[in-house]
Parts: sequence; structure tokens; C-alpha cells
Amino acid sequence: MFSKKVVDSLAGSSMIRAMFEEGNKLRKQFGAENVFDFSIGNPEIEPPEPVLASLRAHAATDRKGTHRYMANAGLEEVRVKVAAWLSGKSGVPLNAGHIVMVCGAAAGLNITLKALLNPGEEVMVVSPFFVEYLAYIDNAGGKPVSVKLKTGSFDLDVPAMEAALTPATKAIILNSPHNPTGVIFARSDLEALSEVLERKGREFGTEIYVISDEPYVSIVYDGVEVPNLMSIFRNAIVVNSFSKSLALPGERIGFIAASSRIQDVSVLMGACVSLNRTLGFVNAPALFQRVIADNLDVTVDTEFYKIRRDMLYNHLTSIGFTCVRPNGAFYLFPETPIPDDVAFTKSAVKYNLLLVGGSGFGCPGHFRLSYCVDIGTIERSLPAFTKLAEEYGMKKA
Ligand SMILES: Cc1ncc(COP(=O)(O)O)c(C=O)c1O
Repeated sequence: MFSKKVVDSLAGSSMIRAMFEEGNKLRKQFGAENVFDFSIGNPEIEPPEPVLASLRAHAATDRKGTHRYMANAGLEEVRVKVAAWLSGKSGVPLNAGHIVMVCGAAAGLNITLKALLNPGEEVMVVSPFFVEYLAYIDNAGGKPVSVKLKTGSFDLDVPAMEAALTPATKAIILNSPHNPTGVIFARSDLEALSEVLERKGREFGTEIYVISDEPYVSIVYDGVEVPNLMSIFRNAIVVNSFSKSLALPGERIGFIAASSRIQDVSVLMGACVSLNRTLGFVNAPALFQRVIADNLDVTVDTEFYKIRRDMLYNHLTSIGFTCVRPNGAFYLFPETPIPDDVAFTKSAVKYNLLLVGGSGFGCPGHFRLSYCVDIGTIERSLPAFTKLAEEYGMKKA
């Protein structure tokens, strides 16, 4: 028989993927233009032109050795550039030794958690959370501890987080801008949390690490500040990718950066480099390491997403939905008009609306919409949302 644990987990496996499959069925039945698929965060936007130009240039090179294996940490010249770039943002001195190039944030998180955790140690996540965190923590033999974000604002609830810390807490995963709410955590809360972690760490005689999962760090609207977590937390480990910021999710490219302020950081980085190999990634794609190194200051056009956010947010709130207005990423996380979010998303399917229930993110009573889709899809979906709101007798604003 196959792995019982994995086979059993398939039953409850990602609602997001399930919706994706549902979408394929509906598209065949009704035609793609009549299906409003907001289920998955797969950017519809193409990578920025400088990224494509750099890709063409590196692909055309006849330099010998371009496609060979390399050190598991990644290309030295790329890590030097990433270190200088991040140092400039955080004010924390970094060199190539603090950087490991990885196959996207998913790989970076798995490597980091496995490098940090001893069996049974706890990793705090804030809910709603990116659902894959639970699998990644399990992969590393850890135990997830979930603490709710504040109701109504999705701000960090620092006192609740403090109360959930134990001597077994090894790490906290933070993600700002946040999937699925689009919230950017406030500097004052992050600074308060940093003080708590230092104090509790001293009390427990432990080190508590902050894993900053940052794929949306440059997708921000209205000039809102995204506090730099490495500058705030002494034990910061940044995991970033170019899946969203450069619309390259299929290319699998990102990095882990550990703060030079972490005690024994070279041991941690040695573990991450070794795990990049032994977990089977070996090294991040050579071509895309070179491409992103040329484009560290490039971001997709955030106006593209802002237009979509405004169109959906304005419509949904005008027909009676309650929703925190996102300042970043490309998700909305409104409340469902009934407590059962799974039943609600099922009933949305009859209007060809594919939404994901909040339960899958550890936050029932909500649903997630991913608005990184074609603008025509959004325009055509608005009457369907109106019908859905009417079905539930929702009151117009
Ligand atoms: C919060 C968050 N973390 C990590 C990832 C994984 O990103 P990557 O494609 O870089 O592996 C995603 C992807 O949607 C995400 O939303």
C-alpha cells in the first residue's frame, strides 16, 4: 500500500486546487468567458519587459558552463547582488554567505523549517494563513500553533500571540502583504512583537525565529509602507520569490536570506545549503538566477492589480459584503453572509463564480477571491456577484 498518511491527506487536500478542477469542468460546459474563476493566485499579467529581455540575452549566450551544476547555495555573483540589495533595504549587513537561492518560496519555506526544527517543536502561524504552511511544518516534523488575526481588521493580535508562545516555540511565520487578506502588518505591532519575542526568548532560554514569507512584498497600493521585517526582528529569516513580483511562478525562483544578527548564522546557512541538495532541489534554476539578478528593482505594474482591486472591492461592498480593503497582494477576503463558507462557495458555483471558502485558510465565515485575473472576467462577473448577494438577501450599502 502507498503512504497512508499521504493518501489520507488527499481527501482534505487543497480546496483551492479542487476549485481549479471545478473551473475546468465549467469552462468546457459554458465557455471560458462565462466562468469567473477567482480561485487561484496564478498571475494573468506577463513578466515585465526588462525581465523578458534579460531572459532572451542569457538564453542566447554561448558562454561555456552556463547550464552546469553549481554550488548548492546558488551562483556566487547572484548571491552577492541579492545580499547587497537586501542589505540596502534592511540596513542589516549581509553577504553572499547569508543567501541561498531556491526554487521559489515553497522550497525556501520547506528548507528553512527543516533546518530549524527538532521533532515536535512549535511553529506559530496567524490565521487566516496560506494553507500550505501546515503541510510544510508537518514535512519538517513540527507542530503548527495557530493564532487568530484581529477580527474586523486582520491586524496582528500581539497579546494573543504572546499568550500562545511556549518554550517549544521555534519560529513564527509572518506574511506581509498577507495572503489571503491583502493586509500589511503595522510597524507598531511588529515592533511590539519583536520586543515580546526577545523577552520571552530570554525567559524560556530559547531563540525564536521569525520567518518572513515575502512573495508579495512589492505588490503594494496607495504608497502604504511595508515595514522591513529583517530590520525589526533580530532573528529574521526572509523567504522571498519572484513568482508574484515578476509574474514568474512557473519558473521556480526565489531565495532564503538569514540575518547576520542570528547567533551561529553560518551553521544555519550550511544546513539550508545542504537541505537544498538533500530535499532534492539541488540548486535553483541557473538561467533564472541570472535573470532575477538583473532585475532586483523591477516589479510588475501594480496599477494593473489596483484597478482590479478597486473594481471588485467597490462592487462587493456596494452590494452588501463586508471586507477589509487590501493594501497589497492580490486577494480579497470578504465575510460570507452565512457562517458555513463551504456551503456559500458551493452555491456561488451556480452563477459560475469560483471562490475559496475561508475554512481552508483556518478562518471560517469568509471567502477568498484572487483578483490577478483578466479585467473582462471581473467586469462580466459583477452581475453574478449581485445575483449571489440577492440570493442571500444582502443589503446594499
Ligand atoms: C503566502 C505565500 N507563500 C508562499 C507561496 C509560494 O510561492 P512560490 O511560487 O514562490 O513557491 C505563495 C503562493 O501563492 C503564497 O501565497
